[in-house]
Amino acid sequence: MKHKKTIVTSALPYANGPLHIGHLAGCYLPADIYVRYLRSKGEDVIHICGTDEHGVQITLKAEQEKKTPKQLVDKYYGLIQKALKDIGIEYDNFSRTTRKVHIKETQKFFLKLLENGFLEEMEITQLFCEKCSRFLPDRFVEGECPFCSSGSARGDQCESCGRWLEPSMLKKPRCKICSSSPVLRNTKHWFLKLDALTDKLRSWHSTHPEWKDNVTKFCKTWFDEGLNPRAITRDIDWGVPVPLEDSHGKVLYVWFDAPIGYISSTMEWARDVKKQPDLWKKYWLEDNTRLIHFIGKDNIVFHAMVWPGMLMAHGDFILPDQIPANEFLNIEGEKISTSRNWAVWVDQALEVFPPDTLRYVLAATAPENSDVDFTWPEFQRRVNDELADVLGNFINRTLVFIAKYYGGKIPRLDPSYLDAEILKEIGNAPERIGALYESFQVKKAVSEFMKLARTGNKLFQSSEPWVLVKESPEKCRSVIAACAAIMDTLAAVIEPVLPFSSMKILKMLDLEKRSWNQGGEFRIQKDHATKKPEILFSKVEDGVIQKQRDLLGKERNMEQPEKERASILDMEKIGLKIGLVKSVEKVEKSDKLYKLTVDIGNEERQIVAGLVPYYSKEEILGRKVVVATNLEKAKIRGVESDGMILAADDGETVSLLSLDRDIPQGSKIK
Ligand code: 2FM
Ligand code: ZN
Repeated sequence: MKHKKTIVTSALPYANGPLHIGHLAGCYLPADIYVRYLRSKGEDVIHICGTDEHGVQITLKAEQEKKTPKQLVDKYYGLIQKALKDIGIEYDNFSRTTRKVHIKETQKFFLKLLENGFLEEMEITQLFCEKCSRFLPDRFVEGECPFCSSGSARGDQCESCGRWLEPSMLKKPRCKICSSSPVLRNTKHWFLKLDALTDKLRSWHSTHPEWKDNVTKFCKTWFDEGLNPRAITRDIDWGVPVPLEDSHGKVLYVWFDAPIGYISSTMEWARDVKKQPDLWKKYWLEDNTRLIHFIGKDNIVFHAMVWPGMLMAHGDFILPDQIPANEFLNIEGEKISTSRNWAVWVDQALEVFPPDTLRYVLAATAPENSDVDFTWPEFQRRVNDELADVLGNFINRTLVFIAKYYGGKIPRLDPSYLDAEILKEIGNAPERIGALYESFQVKKAVSEFMKLARTGNKLFQSSEPWVLVKESPEKCRSVIAACAAIMDTLAAVIEPVLPFSSMKILKMLDLEKRSWNQGGEFRIQKDHATKKPEILFSKVEDGVIQKQRDLLGKERNMEQPEKERASILDMEKIGLKIGLVKSVEKVEKSDKLYKLTVDIGNEERQIVAGLVPYYSKEEILGRKVVVATNLEKAKIRGVESDGMILAADDGETVSLLSLDRDIPQGSKIK
């Protein structure tokens, strides 16, 4: 059936560390590129993600950082979300698996599987550490891999050979916390009867010959070895509680709850963003939706076997259509290792480089079919020789010429002066390049759009417009107009990979973004005025690259620096008073802002505050709040705001500061 809607998901990142470029190259960037492309084509697509906040890895990291798991995930949720946003990855919803909506949905999912007969309770022997007096599921235990003999396999998976393990399969196991040798003890767990789903999974797989080789091959190994029941509960105290009375404090395995996050995040989007609580059903329950899971190769078995098995056992939801799994990104010849700090952290890199440069290099070298190596000198080469010298240079020299010789106005194009091949190349660029984005071949798409930029450069260079302008002004006008048309088409076809630069090009051309299919059409009117040319990409110096290389392997301080100390005089500069909220209304066309009237004792102030997601009008009206009264006036979404209401923000929710005894409005705060 031809699809009408698409759900694109990216693997939910664990909220146990900052985001590195390996994460980006694996799934976040390819998913964003794909979504941007579909959006430009006018398709109905939602991009869903969130942080994966349960599991042993969270509790282990929390112990390391001397934090509670909740404190840990709060911190990394904020950091991850910000890094994704800053690199231009846009989601319709970015949720968290510790939110109520997710916990409720996961428990419902479990009960439905139980009702449908796909879960069974079994007594098993498990590793137990007597010293720590706890069971050692998943990453709480390490040992020798029974398949490849690597000495540091974890209880859930061996990083060397990628096999999924059970803790009891490890040779020479040791407790990850205290290093002592565990003993075996009996405990009861719930199992997903994956074996009972073998035939269904196999025949469903056979309907997807188009899947990437890495996915198909991994699944073949699994089928050949035979599918077994998989434990989906754990004896730890951080996770979604098993929703049964006699569950003995067990929680659901993180890999059971995480993928359900794709559904719960969509539900949250429908409820909170779209304000249509049932809208998620239009995506998850209707056959004319395509479900596409972008992942890294370490997640293949979960997305191609276990999760579809869970969906089949549940019965209500659609199944994945595509699972574009990328291979790994190494850095300077070595595997990324967060524990050894062999990583390039996205937030840190963005302090030095514009987002599009990172996006470009990761897209141009994407690990689509095999592991690839990211090196800083190669990054520098691509930014300098490709982005700056080819794309940036072409755009700049064209605009500068237009400014200098035509007063900033794009001249008229007469096709008879131009090579028909070039006109064809511009005209069919969206179709050619679109087909590559469509089939997840981003690397080739990048090389094609760079080819178009090279064509532009060559046209400019070989026409020598600085000579033509005098010798054959008519032809010169056409060449320059063609260069402007190439720029316009480039803005369209680079947008999925280089959204910030695409916007800048359109701004300089003073043109609106257009739909993908129109991207190759000539739309520029004679004498259309351009804006001032700006440099699109600056070259990266050797010293900057050396600094980045020096950071590899060095410990990263994750604590957020406290702000500089302020003197009491600084404190007194800000006037703080108690205010009484007299009226509340929503700012038109904004999902976040209220316009309030606040009585601060001697006068009433109009204040705009981003509280819509956190408070209803009724909750704010008549409430006493803390107001900063002597800040400069500001215009927010065109509405004047004279003051600021103070609130606490932990990255997830916001709480207004409140009084614990009544005190009149106008009272000073000191
Ligand atoms: O490997 C990971 O980073 C996992 N947190 C991915 C989870 S994907 C999905 F199932 F939520
Ligand atoms: Zn192994």
